[in-house]
Amino acid sequence: MVVSLPASLGLGDKISDGLNARHERVEYKVFPDGESYMRMDFDVKGEDVILVQTTYPDQNRRLLELFMAIRTLIKRGVHTVSAVIPYLAYARQDREFLKGEVVSGEEVLELLSLAGVRRLYVIDVHKPEILSKFHGVSINILPSRIFAREVESIGLTKPLVVAPDAGAEHRAKSLAGLLGSSHMVFRKFRDRYTGMIRHELPAALRLEGEDVIVVDDIISTGGTVSEIVQYLRARGASRVYVMASHGIFVGDAVRRILQAGADSIYVLKTVERLVEGVTYLDVGDEVVEALRSSMLRD
Ligand code: R5P
Repeated sequence: MVVSLPASLGLGDKISDGLNARHERVEYKVFPDGESYMRMDFDVKGEDVILVQTTYPDQNRRLLELFMAIRTLIKRGVHTVSAVIPYLAYARQDREFLKGEVVSGEEVLELLSLAGVRRLYVIDVHKPEILSKFHGVSINILPSRIFAREVESIGLTKPLVVAPDAGAEHRAKSLAGLLGSSHMVFRKFRDRYTGMIRHELPAALRLEGEDVIVVDDIISTGGTVSEIVQYLRARGASRVYVMASHGIFVGDAVRRILQAGADSIYVLKTVERLVEGVTYLDVGDEVVEALRSSMLRD
């Protein structure tokens, strides 16, 4: 049985069609003081429930709604709860970079476990290793096949795939593998006090006539990707496309990236806010496929 929470991105229909499962939507409103109200006026006893909710924008609200829904379902006697969370907020703080920092990524995953989630499905979490903090089964759905299809439909042949930092290498490698092209990884340094980033970029690289794809998991302020795009253009790259899993796009991030010289920006449809000037790619089929194959394994 699929239960859609208020930020389900319309994925509930896709999942229930794909799995031939019952679909219920939570009745939802926000009180004048800003608190969330939810009502689940349907029978859930004995069901294996797949809850769907993304967690951006309004991360704190969306997570709290998720936790409250999980607990309510469990108290009403469901058999199991799985959660499909296309964008998992807080995952970037995946360790204590500065002494004493709260590792919010770990805490969110532990809270989901403690709340009673048995299986967790996320899309391209910042660092897959962090999923070990979740006590149940976790599945990280990767975007490479979606990006590869898009690259083919643009008509690019063997573009160079670039990762802005070492953490993004697995994405670049996997996409390049599907495209039969090569990949390159840059080095990024972040000042942990100011948040400022700096890349170490190879001085001698020549890219005349080459098409390039820059892949990353998240675009937030657009700072990381625009610096890379500008550099690639300065090295002679012919066309530069940006592909990322989650488009947060704080402030004028999109303008920044396009002004740096990107031809187009592609992101997956994993968050609720859609921004003009960006192409959104559907994730429904991949989510259904991940649910189906993990259920077959059980
Ligand atoms: C960080 O390591 C992530 O993978 C992204 O590169 C980062 O979150 C992008 O942030 P921004 O767009 O603000 O540079």
